[in-house]
Amino acid sequence: MTRIAVIGCGYVGAVSAACFAELGHDVDCIDTDPARISVLKRGESPIHEPGLETLLKRGVERGRLHFSSDYPDVFEAKIVFIAVNTPESHEGAADIRAVRDAITLVAPRLKYGSVIVNKSTVPIGTGELVSGMARRSGCGAISVVSNPEFLREGSAIRDFMMPDRLVLGSDDPAAIDTVAALYGNIEAPVLRTDIRTAEMIKYASNAFLATKISFINEIAAICESLGADISEVARGMGMDARIGNRFLGAGLGWGGSCFPKDVRALAHMAAVHGTHPQLLRSVMDINAGQRLRTVQKVREALGGLDRRRIAILGASFKADTDDTRNSPALELASLLHLEGASVVVYDPVVLAERITEAVPEAAVARSVMSAAQDADAVIVATEWQEFADIDLGALGDVVAQRLIIDARNLLDPVAVRSAGFEYHCLGRPASEGGPVLPSVAKAFAVAGGAS
Ligand code: UDX
Repeated sequence: MTRIAVIGCGYVGAVSAACFAELGHDVDCIDTDPARISVLKRGESPIHEPGLETLLKRGVERGRLHFSSDYPDVFEAKIVFIAVNTPESHEGAADIRAVRDAITLVAPRLKYGSVIVNKSTVPIGTGELVSGMARRSGCGAISVVSNPEFLREGSAIRDFMMPDRLVLGSDDPAAIDTVAALYGNIEAPVLRTDIRTAEMIKYASNAFLATKISFINEIAAICESLGADISEVARGMGMDARIGNRFLGAGLGWGGSCFPKDVRALAHMAAVHGTHPQLLRSVMDINAGQRLRTVQKVREALGGLDRRRIAILGASFKADTDDTRNSPALELASLLHLEGASVVVYDPVVLAERITEAVPEAAVARSVMSAAQDADAVIVATEWQEFADIDLGALGDVVAQRLIIDARNLLDPVAVRSAGFEYHCLGRPASEGGPVLPSVAKAFAVAGGAS
C-alpha cells in the first residue's frame, strides 16, 4: 500500500483515485470545488460513470479515500497525480493554468524525492515546465512522470483496471518504476519512454481515433452516393487486423470533452511549430460536416424545417454518460432550431437543466414517447440502448408523421419500415434507408463515360 495524492477530482481524478484505492492504496484527493468534495466525502459520484460510485463508497468505508478542498501544509504522499482539467483556450491551444496553479500550490509542500505524475492531457513540453516550476519552488529533488490516461467515459473503470497499455514517460527510470508499481497486479504492457513522447502518445492516440471516425464518415458519404452499405463496409474493413473493427461507426460524428479539444490542440501545436496539420484540419472539417449533412437529410425529408416539430433522442455526446460537452446531438438541435424547427430533446440520463443550458430554445421531454408526441420527425442522435429498443408501434401512434432519421445507424431499417415509418440513415443504400440513387447510366453519363 502506498500513500498517494490526486489533485483534481473530475472524470480522470475521481476515477483514478477510486481505482487506486481499490488497488489498496491510501489516496488523498484534492479539488478546489467544495461542492464536489462534499459529494465525494459521502462516497457518492459527482458524475454519471458506471461502477464509480461503488468504488468510491468502498474506498471511503475502508478509509482509503480522503477528500479535501484545501491543500495540506505538507503532503504525506510522495507521489502526487495532477488530474486537473486542461480546457481549450483561444485558437485551440490547451489551457494549462489549472496545472500551473496545482504545481504552484503542491511543489513547496512536497518532501525531498517526491514524484509528480501528470495524468492530465497536457501540451508536449509541459513536463519540463512542471519540473522547472518544482525546482524553482526550492522543494529539492523532484521527479516528473507523464502517465497519460486513456479512459473513455462510460467505461472508465474498466479502461483503468484493464488498460491496453500503461505509458510512463520520465528522465528518471526510478520514478517510472515507482509509478509502475502503483498499478500492482494490473495486467498490461508498460511502455517506458521520455516525457515528451508520452505526452505525444496521448494526443496522437486521440487524434487517430478521431481520424478513424472522420474517415468512416467520409466513406459513408461516398457509399451513400454509390449505393454501398457503410455498416457492411466497416465490417469488412474491420476484419483486417491492421485496421481493427472499433471506432468505425458512421454517424453524427465525434464530440465530448476530449476529441474536439485534443485534435484542435495538436493542430495548434503543429501550426505554431511550423508544421501544417492538413490531415487534422480535414478530420475536424469532416466531423463538423456530419451535423450539417443530418440537417440536410431532415430538411429534404420534410420539404423544409420552418415550424416543424422535431424530436431529438439523446443529448449526451455518446451513450452511457451524462456529459453534454461538445455533444453532436445538441449541436444538431441548435442547427435545426436556427432553421425554424421547434425541437424537443429527450435523454435517459442528462438532466433537463443541462439540456436547457446548452440549447435554451429546446423543449425537454421526460420520455421517448412524450418527445415524439405530434413530431413531424424523430431523430436518433445518441446511441443509447433505450433507443434501439423503442416500441415502434407505440411510437407510430404518437407522431404526427412516421419519419425517423437515424443519425447513428442504430435501428434495424427493416423493422422500422415494417412499422410504417419512412427511414433515413447514413451511408446505406435506399433499400436500407439511404437516399434513392440516380440511375447508374445517368451518373455514368454525367461523369462523361461512354453512353
Ligand atoms: C476518448 C478516447 O476514446 C479516450 O481514450 C480518451 O482518454 C478520452 O477521449 P471519450 O471522449 O470518453 O474517450 O469517448 P469515445 O468513446 O472515444 O467517443 C468519442 C466520440 O466519438 C463520441 O461522440 C462517440 O459518439 C463518437 N464515436 C465513437 C463515433 O462517432 N463512432 C465510433 O465508432 C466511436
